[in-house]
Parts: sequence; structure tokens; C-alpha cells
Amino acid sequence: MARPTRAELDLSALRHNAALAQSLASKSKLVAVVKANGYGHGAVDVARALEPQVPALAVACIEEALTLRDAGITAPILLLEGFFTPDEIDLAAEHEFWLMVENDFHLHSLEASTPAKPLRVWLKVDSGMHRLGVAPAQARDFHQRLSACAAVDANITLCTHFACADDVNSTRTTEQLAEFDRACNGLPGPRSAANSPGVIAWPDSHRDWIRPGFMLYGSSPMVHPHPNADSLRPVMTLKSAVIGLRTVPVGETAGYGDTWRAERPSTLATVCIGYGDGYPRTATNGTPVLVKGQRALLAGRVSMDMITVDVTDIPGVALGDEVILWGQGLPLAEVAPHCSTIGYELTTRMPARTPRMVIVG
Ligand SMILES: Cc1ncc(COP(=O)(O)O)c(C=O)c1O
Repeated sequence: MARPTRAELDLSALRHNAALAQSLASKSKLVAVVKANGYGHGAVDVARALEPQVPALAVACIEEALTLRDAGITAPILLLEGFFTPDEIDLAAEHEFWLMVENDFHLHSLEASTPAKPLRVWLKVDSGMHRLGVAPAQARDFHQRLSACAAVDANITLCTHFACADDVNSTRTTEQLAEFDRACNGLPGPRSAANSPGVIAWPDSHRDWIRPGFMLYGSSPMVHPHPNADSLRPVMTLKSAVIGLRTVPVGETAGYGDTWRAERPSTLATVCIGYGDGYPRTATNGTPVLVKGQRALLAGRVSMDMITVDVTDIPGVALGDEVILWGQGLPLAEVAPHCSTIGYELTTRMPARTPRMVIVG
């Protein structure tokens, strides 16, 4: 007998989503973003499943990349935030990690380094998101100095990142691409711009390398429904079960703080999942869940280990019945707005306490 709370991972869905991303950008190469423990799905499982299908992976930092190498992953791994201390350069050369170069510190450290072999670098240009990257006016100078740097492989990829590509009505993506193209005009080397929204909705952004993350895990990153995202399949299904049942008369409340009150005689199911298991406390009354495959609504505040659900309209609910919090049959994109967040955060916050179970190899 084990606590039934678990995150089931469908790795065939992951491979399907990667194939979809590749088919949308058929001329581009794909670097699969598996940072933050594969957006909470388990980076090693995700990388193992994708490695035969993609030429490269990306993580945020060298610690995440080393975890993958320790697990036997051999694909090149791009470090999206570059390096934080110069001693990471030698380690990166040794392990075939590709470095994002985004500032003076990165450039000067590479110029002062003598790694065993030249490193592949991606030069990040800040085309308008103003988070990381060199200013467009600096791109040419950075490119020249990197090209002349003995520590750097001659094949330098030029890259940028979008702020608003999830919104097809925004003009920002076209503006950012134009800024990127102006900054890189005439410079040699591959180009990369598209994150998941870029892959789905902005074909002009596909260029030589696409960098999808979130879409690989099977949810749409778009603000509005988009046909190219319709056939994504969820990789994570968060499941638990009913461990308590009671009926309450009109006027009774449920959970901490009495935030839900029965407006009719109601049947409440207690489900053993809470914010300690990655189900967010920000989920409000009325957040949808599936009980026995049928829709029910969250009733009352999320506790650390439990929630209560109004199952009055579902006949015959019994102890042990399966509950789905998101995933198959209940899109993450539908749940996230009830929790004042986005799907990215919901899966990425999955704690170690919740067992991850690979259900399809
Ligand atoms: C530089 C960079 N490229 C690609 C991605 C992947 O983005 P997404 O998960 O929206 O596909 C990220 C994610 O934050 C990123 O920082």
C-alpha cells in the first residue's frame, strides 16, 4: 500500500512532441531545452528519451549539464546562462558543453583562457527582451573578438530570445527579429531565435536552430489556441486518489479559512495531494479536477497534503477512486489560470516528494 500521489510521465508523448516541433521547422536543427530538471519532468529521463532524436540539449548551467553527463548522456549540451566562474571553461571544453556568451565577463574570461580544445559558443544578442545578451551595437565587435579568440571554435552561432512570441497579436516578435537581423547582418554563422512559441507561431524565426522547451512537454505555450499546438500530447499527468468522503448540509464550509461554503447539500471528496506535492496553494475554488474521469471542482483551500473536491454531481464516488489534477484529459493550460500562473511553473515546481513514474518507455 503506497500513497497514490504521483506524476506519471509518458515518454512516447515527449518524443511525439519533439517530432512535431521538428516537423514545424523541418529545415532547422533542434536543441531540446531540459533545464530545471526537464521543466520538472526529470531531466535525465527526458534527455535519455530525446537523445536519439535531437542533435543537442540545453540547460541553464554547468551543474545541470554535469548531472546529464554523469547519467551517460553524450549529446552536446548548451549552457543557456553561459558560465558563472572562469574555471567552468575548462570543464565545459572537457565535456563538450556549448557556452552562451552574453556579456563582457564571458568574453574577457574566454580571451584569458587556454582550454584543451576550442569551445563552441553561441553569441546572445539582446534584441529587446533586455534580460541577457549583448546590445545590438556590440554584436559585431563581440563576434570579431570571439572569432579571433583561440579558446573559441570558429563556428559561432548568433542567437536571440523573444519576450512576447506567445501572443500572435503582438508586433514585438517581428520587431525583435528585425533588430536581430540588423545587428547580425553580414556576420557568418548559424542563427537561432525560436523558443516554443517561435516554433509554433513564427516560421520566420526558425532559422538554423530552434530551441523548444515547454512544447516538448506537451502543452501549448500560446496565449490563445493555435492549430500548430493542437496535436501536442501531455507528458506529465499528475494523479492521486480519493481518501475521504462526506456529505455536508447547506452553509457548511471546507478547508482552512472557510473559503468555500456549501450552497446545496454537497458531497466532498478528500484527495491526498497538496502544495507539498506540487499542487499549488494558489489554486482557487472552482479549479477543475477529474474524479473517475469526470469533471469536479476544487472546494476550499489547498492544504500541504490534501485538497477537498465537490463531487456532488458525480454519482458513486468511492474511496480509492482516481483523481487527475492535470495532464491526460485535463490540459495544464486550463488549470494554470485558476492558479494565477502558467503551465511552465506548475510542472517545474514538482517537488522530489512526488514520485515520478515513467509509464511508457
Ligand atoms: C534562451 C532560451 N531559449 C529557449 C528557451 C525555451 O523556451 P520555451 O520553454 O518557451 O520553449 C528558454 C527558456 O526559458 C531560454 O531561456
